[in-house]
Amino acid sequence: MANGHQRDDNARTDDRDSDRDTPITIQPLDLAGSALDDVIALYNAVWGKSGAGAAAVDAQIRRHPRYPGFKAVVARAPDDRAVGFAYGYTNAPGQWWHERVAEHLGAERTAGELTGSFCVTELAVLPSHRRHGLGRRLLAALLADLPHAAATLSTQRDNRPARALYEAAGWDYLIARMRFTPGDREWVVMRRRLRPTGHEH
Ligand SMILES: CC(C)(COP(=O)(O)OP(=O)(O)OC[C@H]1O[C@@H](n2cnc3c(N)ncnc32)[C@H](O)[C@@H]1OP(=O)(O)O)[C@@H](O)C(=O)NCCC(=O)NCCS
Repeated sequence: MANGHQRDDNARTDDRDSDRDTPITIQPLDLAGSALDDVIALYNAVWGKSGAGAAAVDAQIRRHPRYPGFKAVVARAPDDRAVGFAYGYTNAPGQWWHERVAEHLGAERTAGELTGSFCVTELAVLPSHRRHGLGRRLLAALLADLPHAAATLSTQRDNRPARALYEAAGWDYLIARMRFTPGDREWVVMRRRLRPTGHEH
């Protein structure tokens, strides 16, 4: 749920522009190695987190691999630098995001459209590597071969790049606007069926 602050899509990190044309590979995240550290650094670079915010992100990203159905992919440059990542897990009652979205959907829709779906929790690409199809590739790799009937996610209502990507990839709107906490910015919740109708259960 990329709950950080959206940054200028054209913002630059330390990455060099010449890096944009190097071949990028998408790999499963190796939880046994230091890959989780790479993902945390990437998250903080993309969302501009530091200090207490970064500590909260660190704890959250280290907790999520223990959730059921966890899956993560990372995009790496030829020198092994991580330049993008995506991860998610199975939505289940009791999880923070599931409960907040369930409050808006009501019991019947929560049971039918939310619980048990694959929650795309994070998707991020370094600013220097955007608009080269990497976000689309990461999302496709993350959703490939999942057993879930559908996937769900939330993104900021004013996050034009993310909404455009998801819309182009066939995602529909489950909730057109909601806040996760009072005074928070507005979010949309989206859903995409992963299997044909009739195989939901
Ligand atoms: C959203 C994000 C992951 C997209 O990554 P990306 O690698 O630039 O996306 P892609 O190049 O694969 O773009 C795929 C499609 O998404 C849409 N898109 C992506 N960026 C866009 C932008 N800035 N404006 C309009 N459409 C955009 C387009 O339809 C694009 O297809 P096209 O290039 O053929 O027109 C990236 O902008 C990012 O990391 N943003 C910050 C983190 C974030 O917002 N994450 C998602 C929210 S939870």
